[in-house]
Amino acid sequence: MTSILITGANRGIGLELAKAAVDKGWLVHVSVRTQAQAEELSSLLPDVQTMVFDVTDREAIAKAAAGLTAPIDVVINNAGVIGPDKQSPLNMDFEGFAQTLAI
Ligand SMILES: NC(=O)c1ccc[n+]([C@@H]2O[C@H](COP(=O)([O-])OP(=O)(O)OC[C@H]3O[C@@H](n4cnc5c(N)ncnc54)[C@H](OP(=O)(O)O)[C@@H]3O)[C@@H](O)[C@H]2O)c1
Repeated sequence: MTSILITGANRGIGLELAKAAVDKGWLVHVSVRTQAQAEELSSLLPDVQTMVFDVTDREAIAKAAAGLTAPIDVVINNAGVIGPDKQSPLNMDFEGFAQTLAI
């Protein structure tokens, strides 16, 4: 059975991808950022395996990965943000933009 991990799956495109993967009968792992989101998602999609981590937190990712019992075939690294308000060359939020790239 195909095994997939979709990050940022509590809403938006990630959530719809998770639903589509469940419909295919795949083994679906998803990531969210908080325990509350994990519980909400588990009640919506009871068959998915939910992990809790921020994609910029390597330690938390490693911890979540250590809990896997089988390899992941497909990763959709969907988590992302649109970036800071100030993104023009003469008025740039450099810290905010660096964080956007990190995610
Ligand atoms: N929608 C579009 O038109 C469009 C166009 C081009 C590219 N994209 C990209 O496609 C992806 C999904 O878009 P979307 O519209 O579904 O976005 P969305 O509704 O804003 O959802 C973004 C998801 O990413 C998660 N996320 C944000 N920062 C995170 C972090 N540091 N660690 C872990 N998760 C994080 C959010 O979690 P929280 O709920 O906790 O914030 C949420 O689950 C994004 O990467 C976006 O940049 C979207």
